[in-house]
Amino acid sequence: MNVSFFLAVFLLFTDLGLPRPTIYLIPRKIIHKGITVNFSCVAMSPIQGFYLYKDGHKLKDLPVELHKTNATFSIPNVNCSHGGKYSCSYTLSYPFMSESSNEVELFVVGMQIPHLRLANFV
Ligand SMILES: *[C@@H]1O[C@H](CO)[C@@H](O)[C@H](O)[C@H]1NC(C)=O
Ligand SMILES: *[C@@H]1O[C@H](CO)[C@@H](O)[C@H](O)[C@H]1NC(C)=O
Ligand SMILES: *[C@@H]1O[C@H](CO)[C@@H](O)[C@H](O)[C@H]1NC(C)=O
Repeated sequence: MNVSFFLAVFLLFTDLGLPRPTIYLIPRKIIHKGITVNFSCVAMSPIQGFYLYKDGHKLKDLPVELHKTNATFSIPNVNCSHGGKYSCSYTLSYPFMSESSNEVELFVVGMQIPHLRLANFV
């Protein structure tokens, strides 16, 4: 078995020299079921690829819009199982990854809280 082959394929290295990216959540942290949530990951320099993580696990197969220095990941039709802490990282050249970004936490709520009508209390 060729061990170095497997190491080259499966290991990602963190390059502490790369600036940490920043993650933003659009439109907001607390969101109702069924809405599309976008995560924007912004790096400071041109990049090769971005990765999105939820609670530390890499997410795959999400629609992603790539720009030169940022990426927007979309999660359409969110439900309660999408709640959690998200972060991202990027690579300038495989297999060297940046550190993970800050974390943003997404809360998915089931239903709209009814507005209390002041008129009912006077
Ligand atoms: C989320 O991203 C999708 C696809 O990139 C875009 O069509 C949509 O307008 C974005 N939504 C928001 C709220 O930015
Ligand atoms: C992402 O990059 C594009 C093109 O360079 C730019 O127009 C856009 O404003 C950037 N988005 C963010 C969130 O920085
Ligand atoms: C939440 O949505 C995902 C797809 O995005 C789906 O696989 C999952 O079954 C859904 N969970 C619930 C509780 O509806």
